[in-house]
Amino acid sequence: MEHLDQLLKDAAAAFAAAADMNALEQAKAIYLGKSGSLTELLKGLGKLDPEARKSAGAEINRCKSAIEQALEARREALRMAQLETQLAAEALDVTLPGRGMGRGGLHPVVRTQERFETLFRSIGFEVADGPEIEEDWFNFTALNTPDNHPARSMHDTFYIDGAKDVLLRTHTSPVQIRAMQAHAAKFKDLDVMPELRIIAPGRVYRVDSDATHSPMFHQVEGLWVGEDVSFAGLKGVIVDFLQRFFETDDLQIRFRPSFFPFTEPSAEIDFAFMSGPNKGCWLEIGGCGMSHPEVLKHGGIDPSRYTAFAFGMGLDRLTMLRYGVNDLRLFFENDLRFLSQFQD
Ligand code: DAH
Repeated sequence: MEHLDQLLKDAAAAFAAAADMNALEQAKAIYLGKSGSLTELLKGLGKLDPEARKSAGAEINRCKSAIEQALEARREALRMAQLETQLAAEALDVTLPGRGMGRGGLHPVVRTQERFETLFRSIGFEVADGPEIEEDWFNFTALNTPDNHPARSMHDTFYIDGAKDVLLRTHTSPVQIRAMQAHAAKFKDLDVMPELRIIAPGRVYRVDSDATHSPMFHQVEGLWVGEDVSFAGLKGVIVDFLQRFFETDDLQIRFRPSFFPFTEPSAEIDFAFMSGPNKGCWLEIGGCGMSHPEVLKHGGIDPSRYTAFAFGMGLDRLTMLRYGVNDLRLFFENDLRFLSQFQD
């Protein structure tokens, strides 16, 4: 059986010489394939007599499995080599210094909103919320706004196509109605309803766009309902808030008589710093007043028993004043050169 030993040696050498899987498969075909050397030998067994066939068969099979082992060993070696190459090519140097992670920051308007919430929570207000896609009734009718009011016109308000009486809310005031209704329903069985004190910050929408107006902007609504709520209380809350918000007593606040359908009497809140670069520039930052009895009624609250004051302020305006920003559009352009100045 010497030639079987030779055959095994030749096969092992051919496998060792195969540089990749393809070459190895070709070498395999020469020895183990359909018309490979071993297969031929096995076919030849038929011509031998039974005794000789048995021993020759056993020899050939031994040789065959030795060749198969050699093939498998080479396959494994090639696989490992391939893996090594791949690992070397895709190597990561974990000792390189990292690139660092950019640190984000809160948007300046969000900062103002959070500051607003913190200050009002400290005097017992809760933060309320309402939908930005609002019903005409909550946005206008319930707030005592007549049908012919200019705010209702198509030029001023974004109406929703195909949905009757649905619009993008033009102010946060509809949250007043929603909050009063919920409060009145919650305490309907009590003789005296607990006070309702809420602020409602959020996005509002108007057809308006220039350096000081954006079609989407932010407001905060405030509402205090109770048995002895007065205009004096309203002034106290607003003045105290503004002094704390701007961290200075050195400011002047004016309640300029005005008109809003949902309050009577009504006032515009004007404000000026008494020192610093913007000293003496008066700016209107919101509206306020004593809630109109019709508004309380729509909120499910008895106006002969309870009174309320309400106010609405522009969050973006307050942010501009606090940080000395002179163009409202900067807040909504998302230019990181601007926004990154507000990081901690
Ligand atoms: N909703 C008013 C506006 O957007 C602002 C406002 C004025 C809100 C007076 C009030 C208020 O609650 O009492 O112009």
